[in-house]
Amino acid sequence: MLNVSNLNKSYQIGKTKYEALKGVSLDVEKGEFVAVMGPSGSGKTTLLNCISCYIPSDSGEIQLGGTDLAKLPEAAIAKVRNEKLGFVFQDFLLLDGLTVRDNIMLPRIIGGQVSASMEQTADRLCEVFGIAHIKNKYPADISGGEKQRTAVARALINSPELILADEPTGNLDSKSSRAVINSFLQAKQELCATIFMVTHDSFAASFCDRVVILQDGAVRRMLSRGEVSRRAFQDELLNVISEMSEVSGQ
Ligand SMILES: Nc1ncnc2c1ncn2[C@@H]1O[C@H](COP(=O)(O)OP(=O)(O)OP(=O)(O)O)[C@@H](O)[C@H]1O
Ligand SMILES: [Mg+2]
Repeated sequence: MLNVSNLNKSYQIGKTKYEALKGVSLDVEKGEFVAVMGPSGSGKTTLLNCISCYIPSDSGEIQLGGTDLAKLPEAAIAKVRNEKLGFVFQDFLLLDGLTVRDNIMLPRIIGGQVSASMEQTADRLCEVFGIAHIKNKYPADISGGEKQRTAVARALINSPELILADEPTGNLDSKSSRAVINSFLQAKQELCATIFMVTHDSFAASFCDRVVILQDGAVRRMLSRGEVSRRAFQDELLNVISEMSEVSGQ
């Protein structure tokens, strides 16, 4: 579904070249919920931004459903972003002047695909995520968790092939974080959504099917949850992360 292969990305600062991604390869299957963890500066956001084509990679392939995104022209990339990808950002990025329902419909409005079915889809997503009762409210008048659920619903309005999320629980308390994770799990179970989430939070990551751990721009570990309990998986993640920071002296 998503196949990243030997991806390299460097940033040039003056005469110095900094390699942020060094030969990253990973696959995400349809319907899988995958987290990316790793120390600050390990390349997580860079990886997400390359996959979403916000920044160009230097070399390597990013295949989404068989199309190599890295080779598409800019106009085609914009279309892929609007039709095949859904985004959830740390600070929600809801528009203050639009209601919850209109915010959810925004990607369709931007894509010029306004229709009655779009309104039905928006209403269904409001039901799925428990925000039907606030759909006519404005972002200023709802809680952080409700904003984030609105953002998840918006990411799903186009039935994207892949949802990309960067620290979606980063600014939230534990109750709201749980609400966001629940909305991803619901999207996975009820809508067969595929989710790729960058997170620092081992609690959030422990709900995922798989966790990719980056270090210094490379994939260091790939952990599958398998049949173990969420709690046991979280302990495993914490162990791996603390071992890594001991080795690197962080
Ligand atoms: N626009 C940029 N120009 C130059 N260097 C950059 C740029 N963006 C990121 N970097 C560098 O690339 C490396 C990876 O950054 P990235 O933002 O991908 O890390 P991250 O894993 O998301 O970190 P965090 O957990 O702090 O968000 C860092 O060393 C960072 O300083
Ligand atoms: Mg980051």
